[in-house]
Amino acid sequence: MERVTPQYLKKKKEKGERAVLLTAYDYFIARLEDEAGIDVILVGDSYGTTVLGYSSTLPVTMADMLPIVGAVRRGAKRAMVIADMPYMSYQPSTEHAIRNAGRFMRLGVDGVKLEGGIVVKDTVKRLVDIGIPVMGHTGMTPQSYKKFGGYRVRGKKKDEFQELITDAMALEEAGVFSIIVECVPEDVTRRITEEIKVPVYGIGAGKHCDGQILVVTDLIGLSPGPMPKFVKEYAHLQNDITDAINRYMDEVRNGTYPNASHTYF
Ligand code: KIV
Repeated sequence: MERVTPQYLKKKKEKGERAVLLTAYDYFIARLEDEAGIDVILVGDSYGTTVLGYSSTLPVTMADMLPIVGAVRRGAKRAMVIADMPYMSYQPSTEHAIRNAGRFMRLGVDGVKLEGGIVVKDTVKRLVDIGIPVMGHTGMTPQSYKKFGGYRVRGKKKDEFQELITDAMALEEAGVFSIIVECVPEDVTRRITEEIKVPVYGIGAGKHCDGQILVVTDLIGLSPGPMPKFVKEYAHLQNDITDAINRYMDEVRNGTYPNASHTYF
């Protein structure tokens, strides 16, 4: 199967085919996603909330991300692997961004993602100029949730709507190979997708774009609730895991595990 590249994603958009993106935080899930045919695996800083138990992504560091980025890369052969740049790994200066993006690229990833629009335009341009593919991320960008007054839908008001279009255009001008749009009304996504040529992928942004991304623990039912409206749980692993733990406890306590078939003689 053809390896996924920015050029592959662009062709997909031109042919009107939707790409499917998903996050992963370890080798095992990355391998399953890759074998299933996921196009892009994002090693999201959502790792902080989904795996590390933080209440936001702000505490996530490069030291947290580096080992899992390597693990996901080792698990994925065909999919494009994108490393999410954690909070304050790119905001302080372009030099910071280059150094940290370089640390991810050395692990074999295919690009990096950073949040923001016009405000990160120069940084994005510099990264792209030196050969690092960049995925943009606009809309409700979780690293800025305090500025937005919480995790809320963005772009309902006219000025915010226009700001998001301008941000997406700035990202395209800076050279991103794609843009994620998070938690906005579908009209915002439709307009961005019409205005720009690079693929636009939505999360909580409706269907008028070039593909979707979800957080894998939400999709498989491993995230603690409550879930945002846009999440669809395709499996309920929390229930399966709790059930397995309960049955194990029962069988140890009543002496039915281990039996002869689990015992060396
Ligand atoms: O960190 C993440 O998982 C993300 C997605 C929600 C797009 O940025």
